[in-house]
Amino acid sequence: MKKRLLIATGGGDCPGLNAVIRAIVKRASSEHNWEILGSIDAFDGILRDPMHIIELTPEKVAGIHVQGGTIIGTTNKGGPFAWPVKHSDGTWGTVDRSQDFLNRLQYQNIEAVINIGGDGSQRISQQLYELGCPIIGVPKTIDNDLSATDFTFGFQTAVDVATDAVDKLVTTAASHHRILTLEVMGRYAGWIALHASIAGGAEVCLIPEIPYSIDKVMEALTRRIDNGIGFANIVIAEGATPLDGDMCYSENDEPGAMNIRLGGAAFRLTHQLKNAGCSIDIRETILGHLQRGGTPNAFDRILASQFGVKAFELVLEQKWGHMVAYRHPNIESVPITEAIKAYNLVDLNSDLVKTARGLGISLGD
Ligand code: F6P
Repeated sequence: MKKRLLIATGGGDCPGLNAVIRAIVKRASSEHNWEILGSIDAFDGILRDPMHIIELTPEKVAGIHVQGGTIIGTTNKGGPFAWPVKHSDGTWGTVDRSQDFLNRLQYQNIEAVINIGGDGSQRISQQLYELGCPIIGVPKTIDNDLSATDFTFGFQTAVDVATDAVDKLVTTAASHHRILTLEVMGRYAGWIALHASIAGGAEVCLIPEIPYSIDKVMEALTRRIDNGIGFANIVIAEGATPLDGDMCYSENDEPGAMNIRLGGAAFRLTHQLKNAGCSIDIRETILGHLQRGGTPNAFDRILASQFGVKAFELVLEQKWGHMVAYRHPNIESVPITEAIKAYNLVDLNSDLVKTARGLGISLGD
């Protein structure tokens, strides 16, 4: 009888997920005695009645490395430890179905699980591992905020999208003599904002790691305008906060939702700049999910393929509770606990930050 491996993609989607799936299936197919399954919509596929799992054959995954999204679907709600249930009074709560999850794996003769996901998903991987689940993690997030890996796939594609947006906004800002603000993703880490600001040439870059002073932002803009240039571009991460403020978010009332919903940082900044006396026209662009969808760039396809091949090798080694990681130039394995113990935040003493400052980009401090 063939050994059965289950793949799940969890959390927000990300360019490169399909390339990981394809790489696992291709690598596994050379072992002959493995059958690869996909759980639809993260672990929901296993937990639903009837279960929703599909076979991932080499034919099924052929050519998918260039496709965005994930062919097995994803969700950033619920999961084995917080399964949403509707109470009789119409309100929603969650229940722990982790034991049921493990029983279902056994019932399906699944001997290994590869969980491709970000911080929330890898926390679930770790909890399942502690309950005895034979699980391997593959890190994914456009935010690049997972520790223990130099990069996550999807990040570079998101930076390309954000940089393209800055490039376009620079020309329209110049034509209209305006300040144009681009809000990009980055919940706790400002990697996308910082990279796109350097690559695109923004004057101000506001990231979650550096609470900004509106006076400093005004100073930078005034300097720029007074130089006779007459326009400016700002990139702000969705998780950026002013010195005396909190993140901009709305409560997420979707049952089982793992995260608060961020958004509004750019509009708040406009409001603050106007209150501080800025007389130039300001417009905001929210890049949103454009950063997550679409075709992965070559770097992300390669990294995702490397992660997929390595993840299957960790299965063969039975290195449960480990996650694949990129430690340039190698693909290594690290305990999942290493990846989730702290967010990978922008190091304020790094050369990247020094480069931004050296280019005259104001970080609002
Ligand atoms: O975690 C990645 C991320 O892209 C965050 O930057 C963002 O806040 C979040 O996903 C949005 O997720 P969704 O809109 O799918 O709930």
